Amino acid sequence: MSTTPLTILLVGGTGSIGRHVTTAATRAGHRVRILSRTPGEASTPGVDTVTGDLTDQSTLGPAVDGIDAVIFTHGTHGGEAGYRDVDYGGVRNVLTAIGGEQVRVALMTAIGVTVRDGSYNRSSKAHDWKRRAERLVRASGHPYTIVRPGWFDYNDADQHQLHFLQGDTRRAGNASDGVIARSQIADVLVAALTSPAAAGKTLELVAERGPAQTDLEPLFAGLTPDVELDGPGDQDNQPVADEPAVVRAELEHLTGIATA
Ligand SMILES: NC(=O)c1ccc[n+]([C@@H]2O[C@H](COP(=O)([O-])OP(=O)(O)OC[C@H]3O[C@@H](n4cnc5c(N)ncnc54)[C@H](OP(=O)(O)O)[C@@H]3O)[C@@H](O)[C@H]2O)c1
Repeated sequence: MSTTPLTILLVGGTGSIGRHVTTAATRAGHRVRILSRTPGEASTPGVDTVTGDLTDQSTLGPAVDGIDAVIFTHGTHGGEAGYRDVDYGGVRNVLTAIGGEQVRVALMTAIGVTVRDGSYNRSSKAHDWKRRAERLVRASGHPYTIVRPGWFDYNDADQHQLHFLQGDTRRAGNASDGVIARSQIADVLVAALTSPAAAGKTLELVAERGPAQTDLEPLFAGLTPDVELDGPGDQDNQPVADEPAVVRAELEHLTGIATA
C-alpha cells in the first residue's frame, strides 16, 4: 500500500499497457479513473470509468475533476492525423482541461521518439507528434516523468532487470533498440507518480538479463533532469523555431513564453 494514495486519471486505460497500469496502481493503493470512448463497467474495487474522447475537449471535464495525477498510455495506429489528433492532441486537450490545478503527470511515448529520418516517422510522423506531446508536458508546469519504453513484451523470460537510459541513442527502429515487459512499463509509470527523484525527468526504458529491482528510487535518482523542452542528450533535430505555427502557439499557450 502506498503511503500517498492518489486519484489517477488513466488515459488509455483500456489498452494493452493501460490494463497493466490499473493493476499496478490499485496494488499500490491508488484509485484509478479510466478514460475511454466506450468504457465497460469497472468491476475492480478502486477503479472507475469515465466516458470521453481525447479529440473532443468538451468531453473531458468529468475525467479530470478532482484528480491528483494523470498517466497517459493512449495511442493510435495509423496515419498522421491520428498521431496529431490523439497522441499529441489528447495530451494537449487533457492538460487544457486540467487547467491551473497542479497534478503529477506520467507520459508514455516510445524509444526512438527523436528519430525523424526513419521510414516509420517519414510515413506517419508518429515520432514528431509524440515528441511534441512530450514538449507540452515539459512546458506544462506540472511535475512530470516521461517514459519512452522499448519494444513491448519482446523480452525473454529472464530479462527483467530495468535500465533507465537517456539521450535516445538507440535508433535502429527494431527490437535491437531494447525490450521491456508491458507489466514493467506499468510499474515504472506508477512508481514515477510518487517518486520525488523522478520529477522533471525523461528516460528510455529497457530490460536486460536479470531480476527486476524492487526499489526504483536509485534508478530515478541517477537520471539527469530535462533541459527546457527536450530530454537531456536528445538530438537537436526538431528545433522549436521550425515547428508549425499551431504547435508553437500551443506551447506558448501552456508556458506563456514565446518560442520564436
Ligand atoms: N508496441 C511497442 O513495442 C511500442 C513500443 C513503444 C511505444 N509504443 C506506443 O504504445 C502505444 C500503444 O499502446 P497500447 O498498446 O497500450 O495501445 P492500445 O492497446 O492500442 O490502446 C490504445 C488506447 O488509447 C485509447 N484511445 C485511442 N484513441 C482515443 C480517443 N480518441 N479518446 C480516448 N481514448 C483513446 C484507447 O481507448 P478506447 O479505445 O477505450 O477509447 C485505448 O485505451 C502506441 O502509441 C505506440 O506508439 C509501442
